[in-house]
Amino acid sequence: MKNTFGQSVSVTVFGESHGECIGAVIDGLAPGIKIDEEFISDRLARRRPSGEISTKRQEKDEFRIVSGVFEGYSTGTPICIIIPNADTRSADYKSTASLARPSHADYAAYCKYHGFEDYRGGGHFSGRITAAIVAAGAICELALAMRGITVGTHILRIGKAEDRHFSDIKEDIKLIKERAFPVLCDKAGDEMKKEILSAKEQADSIGGITETAVSGLDAGVGEPFFDSLESTISHAVFSVPAIKGVAFGAGFGFCDMLGSAANDPYTIDNGNVTTKTNNCGGIYGGISIGTPIIFSCAVKPTPSIGKEQDTIDFIKNENAKLKITGRHDPAIIHRACPVIDAVTAIAVCDAMAVRFGTDFPHMKVTADIKKEGER
Ligand SMILES: Cc1cc2nc3c(=O)[nH]c(=O)nc-3n(C[C@H](O)[C@H](O)[C@H](O)COP(=O)(O)O)c2cc1C
Repeated sequence: MKNTFGQSVSVTVFGESHGECIGAVIDGLAPGIKIDEEFISDRLARRRPSGEISTKRQEKDEFRIVSGVFEGYSTGTPICIIIPNADTRSADYKSTASLARPSHADYAAYCKYHGFEDYRGGGHFSGRITAAIVAAGAICELALAMRGITVGTHILRIGKAEDRHFSDIKEDIKLIKERAFPVLCDKAGDEMKKEILSAKEQADSIGGITETAVSGLDAGVGEPFFDSLESTISHAVFSVPAIKGVAFGAGFGFCDMLGSAANDPYTIDNGNVTTKTNNCGGIYGGISIGTPIIFSCAVKPTPSIGKEQDTIDFIKNENAKLKITGRHDPAIIHRACPVIDAVTAIAVCDAMAVRFGTDFPHMKVTADIKKEGER
């Protein structure tokens, strides 16, 4: 299933950057989810480029839901969302169509699709496709919200500018969603914007690290071995263009810790099982234990830059030079945050549906089955 993710709740994406439209089909979602179109618009607005730190391409993202919703609620049949492309400038790509942009998918797509690929604006590999993912993710977020599950992503680092880590997870997720630029601390946000503008002034681009939290997820979700919760989430997250690393909890930081510092001590808080630290990012043995899920992602610098680069002309099979002049993001990371939220919501919806069934948003109580007797 090349353009489809998910076992129980699945999302298929379609479209190209300069084609008529992009879109997504979500299958396997419960009936009775209130489809709040303003909420979907808000999520799309968070991904949309704005100001000097983003591409000049302006798309209104006026989406249409053409199936699976009746009288404002999901029906339980496939939901199809369509988003028209309006602001395309395909001429920007004509003269460089056989020059492989270093770090972009042009040459890889040529190898796979034998030259039949739509190369305009990066075709199916453009960041534009992520608008459809955000719309589908927003609907999954609405399903998760019915069970009190929320998702939020902020930028942890760009260049030398660093944000604080999550602390009060629920409140911090709310805080990120109130801000146009996805950070927890405004000052860090201003410094990050300066880092982006400085890269742009040098006709260059910059990457960084994001941090994501999932709050309110039930304990017992995840299907070890191969569909562990880490595997399901990272499968979805690695589908986002430009994500090159995913680490749960302390991640590679574990390498510098002894077990006594790395282990998360258990404790009972108000009768509930929790841990005093969350180095494992809320997942043990591939299964959630009801504490927040935390993971970070490495986002690479935008491949398309104005500086001259060495490359190849893959039609002529000769070396070439490339200086990119089209409209591009000097950094992807701030626009990637809502996309990471979306794929996380899709992955968690799928994991919940695999564990509890399609109707999980309507579940009254979590499974309370315990083996009787001592052990
Ligand atoms: C929201 C978003 C916006 C993007 N904008 C651009 C862009 O303006 N120019 C560009 O070269 N790449 C952009 N990208 C990244 C490319 O799509 C991506 O690097 C390329 O498809 C290769 O995939 P890979 O980085 O996963 O290997 C963007 C990605 C995202 C998620």
